[in-house]
Amino acid sequence: MLKGKKIILGVTGSIAAYKAALLVRLLKKSGAEVRVIMTPGARDFITPLTLATLSGNAVLSEFTEGNEGVWNNHVDLGLWADLLVIAPASANELAKMANGFCDNLLMATYLSVRCKVLFAPAMDLDMYKHPATQTNINKLQSFGNIMVEPAVGELASGLVGQGRMAEPEELVAVITDFFLNKNSQIPTMNVGMPLAKKSNKRILITAGPTVEAIDPVRFISNHSSGKMGFAIAEEFANQGYTVDLVTGPVHISTVNPAINRINVVSAADMYKAATRLAAKADIIVMAAAVADYKPSKPSDKKIKKKDTEMSIELEKTTDILAAVGKTKKKSQVLVGFALETDNELANAQKKLKEKNLDLIVLNSLQDKGAGFGHDTNKIKIITANNKTFNFELKTKKEAAADIVQHILTLAVK
Ligand code: CTP
Repeated sequence: MLKGKKIILGVTGSIAAYKAALLVRLLKKSGAEVRVIMTPGARDFITPLTLATLSGNAVLSEFTEGNEGVWNNHVDLGLWADLLVIAPASANELAKMANGFCDNLLMATYLSVRCKVLFAPAMDLDMYKHPATQTNINKLQSFGNIMVEPAVGELASGLVGQGRMAEPEELVAVITDFFLNKNSQIPTMNVGMPLAKKSNKRILITAGPTVEAIDPVRFISNHSSGKMGFAIAEEFANQGYTVDLVTGPVHISTVNPAINRINVVSAADMYKAATRLAAKADIIVMAAAVADYKPSKPSDKKIKKKDTEMSIELEKTTDILAAVGKTKKKSQVLVGFALETDNELANAQKKLKEKNLDLIVLNSLQDKGAGFGHDTNKIKIITANNKTFNFELKTKKEAAADIVQHILTLAVK
């Protein structure tokens, strides 16, 4: 699949550097030519010998070699590559990339490459969540760099949260997708160039689950994959709109430069980001599966097991959609989702009315292939003037096109 593709793999100082060995092996197996650049910090986690043996090329990490004036030309390296993959990308190297620092061969190469850059962050959850890191990530995405989201799970520190580097298999899938779509000009991946004529309208979308902490290692969440919300974001972006996508932790990367992605974790974070952006949005689509309740007193220490039963007190989160519905301007179109298991239509109509929506998309968990995790969805669209439109089981991409088409008929009125 990657035959003849020239890939530079940048490895930085993170415990996830051990995954670079498998990544190199998989890339080579797919036919790619791989050259590895390690930062000095990466050498503390994995030996250059391992990566040199697997890649079949000497590993580069210094500007010069020995005392004979031999130097590794980062400009040549940059011109050679079809893709620069930085995996794992530590918080420190991300910060340098975002700010143009150039104190090692990898950073000099990053600044020199003309090809796309894909980065896979790996760090502890609090480092990842920190506004400094998030600002750096947003900045890198605004440069057109592609992030492969870190996963939520157990981290090297023993804490549980978002920060685990994406698995090598997932990275290879994203890389393969990148080259396939680049060559076939598939619009969703036509990086750097939205196809349609630009529109001045701004879209806000919420997607994915929220994660509510019980203590530093446990949380309450749900099975939302974020696929539906991301497909809608992609559809709007491909039609020439600028999209703000506020998402909870999901395993999907965003490559479309017309999508401004804001990563959040909890319902409270999502509320803050979404209400701030709602003020300047023309169309608002809330597809996120927001937690309705959160632990009232999350513990800052791990809760120890006792011999007795235990219960967790929960308090309500703010309904973001209802809050935006209350302040909605006449010119704005507000769209919600309803995921129901019974009494579907009546429940969806109630939400439409109570939350002051213009349109609601109903998914029933009774329908096979609909709802969380699937690549398909079977939807009903209900409008404020009580018209119902039924759709067949379709891919989420196709369902997104139907949803966007209906929203746009309301928006042009
Ligand atoms: N929603 C939201 N903020 C919340 C809860 C829900 O913005 N705190 C939004 C969702 O993004 C979705 C819609 O409200 O667009 C409906 O969500 P859903 O979970 O189906 O309904 P709820 O109103 O939470 O009611 P219930 O869980 O009782 O069905």
